[in-house]
Amino acid sequence: MTSRDTKSGRYTAILVQEHRHLAGELRKLGLTCDRTEITVIADRLRAMLAGHFAREEAPGGLRAAVTRSAPDMRDDLDDIMAEHSALIELVQELHAQSTASDAADEAIVSLAATLVCRLRDHERRESSLLTAALWGGAPA
Ligand SMILES: [Fe+2]
Ligand SMILES: [Fe+2]
Repeated sequence: MTSRDTKSGRYTAILVQEHRHLAGELRKLGLTCDRTEITVIADRLRAMLAGHFAREEAPGGLRAAVTRSAPDMRDDLDDIMAEHSALIELVQELHAQSTASDAADEAIVSLAATLVCRLRDHERRESSLLTAALWGGAPA
C-alpha cells in the first residue's frame, strides 16, 4: 500500500461518513414542521456543507481521482460539483427565512422540503457517479 492509497482511503472514509451524517440531517429536516428545529438543522447544514463541498472540490480530491480512473466521466462530475454553490445558497435562504419574523410557516416547510429533495438528488447522483468511476460499478 502506498502513502497515496492510505491518504486516499482516509479521504474516502471522511466523505462516506459525511454523506451518512448529511443523510441523517436530511431525514430529520424532512420529518419536521417545527420552525425552531428547521433553523437549528439549517444552521448545522450550513457549516457541514461548507466543509463537505470544499473537501469534494479540493485539488487532488474527487476530480483528480475521477480523472485517473474514468476521465470520460470528468465532465459529469464537474456538472455535479457546479451545483454546490446553489445548494449552499438554498441552505442560507432556508436559515434566513426560518428566522425571519414575517415568513409564513408553510413557506418555510416547503423550502425545507425543496432543499431535502435537491440535496438528496445531488448526493445520489454524486455517489452513483463515483461508484461507477472509481470502483467500476454500474451507475444507479
Ligand atoms: Fe457534492
Ligand atoms: Fe457529497
